[in-house]
Amino acid sequence: MKTEEILAKDLNAEKWIREKVRELRKKVGDGLAINALSGGVDSSVVTALGHRALGDRLKTCFIDNGLMRQGEPRRVAALFRRIGVTVEIIPARKAFFAALKGITDPEEKREAITQTFYKNVFRDIVLESGAKYLLQGTILTDVDETVAGIKRQHNVFEQLGIDPQKAFGYRILEPLIQFRKDGVRKLGQALGLPEAAFMRTPFPGPALAARVIGEVTPARIAMVRKATAIAEKWLIRSGAFQYLAILHEDRVTGMKGGKRVFGNQIEIRCWDSLDARTATPTRLPFETLEKIADGIVHAIPEVVSVTYNITSKPPSTIEAI
Ligand code: XMP
Repeated sequence: MKTEEILAKDLNAEKWIREKVRELRKKVGDGLAINALSGGVDSSVVTALGHRALGDRLKTCFIDNGLMRQGEPRRVAALFRRIGVTVEIIPARKAFFAALKGITDPEEKREAITQTFYKNVFRDIVLESGAKYLLQGTILTDVDETVAGIKRQHNVFEQLGIDPQKAFGYRILEPLIQFRKDGVRKLGQALGLPEAAFMRTPFPGPALAARVIGEVTPARIAMVRKATAIAEKWLIRSGAFQYLAILHEDRVTGMKGGKRVFGNQIEIRCWDSLDARTATPTRLPFETLEKIADGIVHAIPEVVSVTYNITSKPPSTIEAI
């Protein structure tokens, strides 16, 4: 069955939230639900909605997969603590890096992350908690791109004929499935989330692994994490839809301390977009690009080249894998 889209401009957020809260309470009944918060816009909005509907009957976890942005687990937990939501941080780095070892193909990487998350790590957490439902922030763009065969988004199952109950042992509820990012942000505001949660730059489910070309190792994630922090620092006030740093697999010749080195390359992407379906590179001031490049080569000695993507989506996509 095709999901009916709700456009942000047609959304009466308060009314929609009232109805969804009623529906979630009815569905979950006296039982428990669980959700994984990644700190991205969609999972933050689902967390706020789920807690409004279910209160303490929703357990919220942050899976620390080792692929998140700098300081993220503690930052996200603290932000939600301020609005009365307890977040349990689950350490799971080893499982994710073990699953990603040796994989370079983008779709295989996505599949390894999906299986590790839903099967290896989350199944035990859900079963131990006694929850019947996993509440997650899948949105229409995730479904569209997966069904069209562009990218297998980490959180899409039923539209691919996968029954989560059979595959993982629990059911999945997707209250945001009719929206795109602009609609989700409107809901976040109406739910009273701080702007820091719902106006953030979007961040993908596979996290920084979506921004490492080639093998994902702790050392390569550490490089892209530092570059991401620098890009976000300089671009947070750019007004762009999304901005990110990518670590390339190819190396190039550079110079450090008067010596030849064969170093790494970071690519910066910064996008103007409404809903991520199409996007154009932001026309950033050259000074901003220079500050980012300087920051990156000083903070990450292994990097000798920083480039800026000037290709639109399509044919590019927002993330690198
Ligand atoms: P692409 O790279 O396909 O991304 O142009 C479109 C939007 O979706 C985000 N993205 C994801 N979000 N799970 C998600 O929840 C995923 O697997 C995933 N992959 C990409 C991306 O950041 C952009 O906003």
